This record gives sequence, structure tokens and C-alpha cells, in this order.
Amino acid sequence: MPLPDDSPEKWVYKEHTRVKHEILSKYLSGWIRILGRNHSRVCYFDCFAGKGEYEDGSKGSPLVAIETASRLKKQFPYLNEIVCDFIEKNENNFMDLERVINIETKTHPEKYNDVKVILHNNNFADIASKIVNKVGDRLAPSFFFIDPFGFSGVPFEIVKNILSIKRTEVFITFMVRDVNRFLDSSRHQINIADLYGIENVQETSKLKYPNLSREEALLRLYRDRLHEDANVRYIFPFKVCADERLQTTYYLIHATNHPKGCKLMKEIMCKTGTEGRFGYFGPAEGQLTLELYDKSGLKNFLLKRFASRRLSFEDIINETLMDTYFIEKDYRTVLRELEKGGYISIGGKGPRGGLPLTAEITFPPRDN
Ligand SMILES: C[S@@+](CC[C@H](N)C(=O)[O-])C[C@H]1O[C@@H](n2cnc3c(N)ncnc32)[C@H](O)[C@@H]1O
Repeated sequence: MPLPDDSPEKWVYKEHTRVKHEILSKYLSGWIRILGRNHSRVCYFDCFAGKGEYEDGSKGSPLVAIETASRLKKQFPYLNEIVCDFIEKNENNFMDLERVINIETKTHPEKYNDVKVILHNNNFADIASKIVNKVGDRLAPSFFFIDPFGFSGVPFEIVKNILSIKRTEVFITFMVRDVNRFLDSSRHQINIADLYGIENVQETSKLKYPNLSREEALLRLYRDRLHEDANVRYIFPFKVCADERLQTTYYLIHATNHPKGCKLMKEIMCKTGTEGRFGYFGPAEGQLTLELYDKSGLKNFLLKRFASRRLSFEDIINETLMDTYFIEKDYRTVLRELEKGGYISIGGKGPRGGLPLTAEITFPPRDN
């Protein structure tokens, strides 16, 4: 029998939870900073909010979020309001959440006077449907954190509807290990079909990606569903191995239609994981190597990809956001080296030879 969602065993704070919260907090800071410039209000939805704190007293995502929101609100007074909606279905977890939030906001009222907190003891799908149907495109820029224990209760149709609203983004804990484990179980077929928004997930993933492992194919299928059916432009996954065995436990998937959002998340994910690796691979990491990890791989990739083209530094980064594990500073180093080697030419440099995002790069034809 699976443990109920309020059992203490499920609320042990682990290193990978800390990493998840670190990514969440850093991304929210950047996201609020970017959007708060042009919008008087932004919303954060913690769709599987949890108890508010873990067994050892570590903070849960709702506290991480309101603390980040309050810090940003103080730094950027032009932002009128940050609204944080917390959705939690389990009654006991909800009562704990309410208590923890009350203690925090009442103990430091000055900190939270510009952060509006709304609590829902309900399920994600119902609340999200109401928002989509009643508010729709009038919704302020919103970030939805979807963090279930397993894979049930996250219907693809709901995620798609959320993402169809302008300026919304989602950040999903995608439990690929569990989907893989229960793929053959008849009891789980409805939930798996619901998660992907299609019947026959197993057959489809096998047919579409015959050369990938089952787990890789399941992740790929979900990404493709977001791209192809939900029409999301940028999807970035962060691999998380929760234990020493280095088997993937879940992916944190960020989906957005804005290149700035994807770029920000990619930079954060790159810097947050195990040093020098992409993705957080767990405590025993050390052996894994990733294709395209060394910078000469990036050089060849860029020469091939942009052969005979002239485009800005920013366009180069944006066009390849989902294709490489490199971030802006790596691109900058590699482009300078290519220029030094006489492979490309760069126009519009900064006064001291810097490489601004507006710099124009000219690539030679492929066989040169
Ligand atoms: C992984 S925990 C959330 C952890 C929290 N986001 C954090 O980082 O501290 C998942 C939570 O979702 C709740 N839950 C389960 N099904 C749900 C649903 N359909 N809608 C909303 N909450 C749900 C569970 O009771 C549990 O508290």
C-alpha cells in the first residue's frame, strides 16, 4: 500500500529537495525582476504546495516562495503586488501549511505586507480549471510550480490550458522513474494516459523513439507533447538522481514561450547541479560524461549550425538554447576563440573589445 501524503516518511528533507528549492528561489527572483518591470502584479501558483515544512523544520516551497517574493518586492518598489496561491489537497497537510504560513506572516508582518497569500484546500486540476476558465488571458504573468509526489493529478490538458494563457510558465516535477515502473500496470493506465493526454503511451513512445531507452523515450514523449500539442517553444529538463544508484528519479521540466525565461532557467540549472555537469546527478556523481560537454564540441557545432549566416550574439544563444549545455559565458569564450583562429568575424564589439549581445557574428560557408 502506498503511504498517505501526510505520513512523516514522505516529509524527510533530502539534498535533492534542497536543490529543487534553490532552483525555484533563484528562478523566481530573476523572473519577478524581469516581469515586474512592465507589470504591476505577478502571480506564483504552488500547485502541490505540501505541508509548508519538513520533519526537520526545513522550509517547504511555499515558504521559499514567499520569502523570495518579499525580498524582491522590497528591492523593486515599482512592483505593486505579488500574489502567491497555494493549492494543497490533503487536509492534514493543508492544516500544517496554514499554520506554518500564519506563523511566518504574523511574526514578520512588515516583511509580507506586499505579498498576498491565498490558500486553497483543493486539488490542482479544479483550481487550475477555474483560473483558466474564469480569468483566462486577463491573468497577470504567472509561474506555476507543479510538484506532485508521483504522477497522478497532473492532467496534460490542464497543463496545456495553463500554457495557452499569455505569459504563463510551468515548472514540473516529472516523475519519470515512477511512470517507467508502472507503465505495464493496468491499475496506472488511466493516470499515465491523463499525464500525457494520449492513450497508449507505451506503444507511442516505443514507436516514436525506437533507439532510446524506455525512460528516455518517456521523457522525450512528454517534451514532444508540450512542444507539439501545447505549442510551447522552450522546454528545459534538469535531471535529478535522488540516490547513490544514479538512476534518474525525476526531471524538473521548465516550459515557457519566452527565450529570456529559458535562458535564465538554463543558467540557473547549469550552476546549481553537480559542479561542471548538467543536471543534478546525486551524491555519487562523478563518472557521467555528456555529449557536447567540451568546448571544442561547441565550436564545431556552431560552425556547422550557422554556416554562411550573419546574426547577433543574442540570436545565436536563443536559437540554440535547447541544443547545448552551455551558457552565455561559454558561448562568449568559444566565439572569441573562433575569431582568434580566423574562423569567424565579429562586428559591433564593445568599446573595450567586449562582446555585447548585439554584436554581429559572420560565419563562413560550411566547407571553409
Ligand atoms: C511533493 S509534495 C509537495 C512539496 C512542496 N512543493 C515542497 O517543495 O515543499 C506534494 C503535495 O501535493 C499534495 N497533493 C497530492 N495530490 C494533489 C492534488 N491533486 N492537488 C493538490 N495537491 C495535491 C500532497 O498532499 C503533498 O502535500
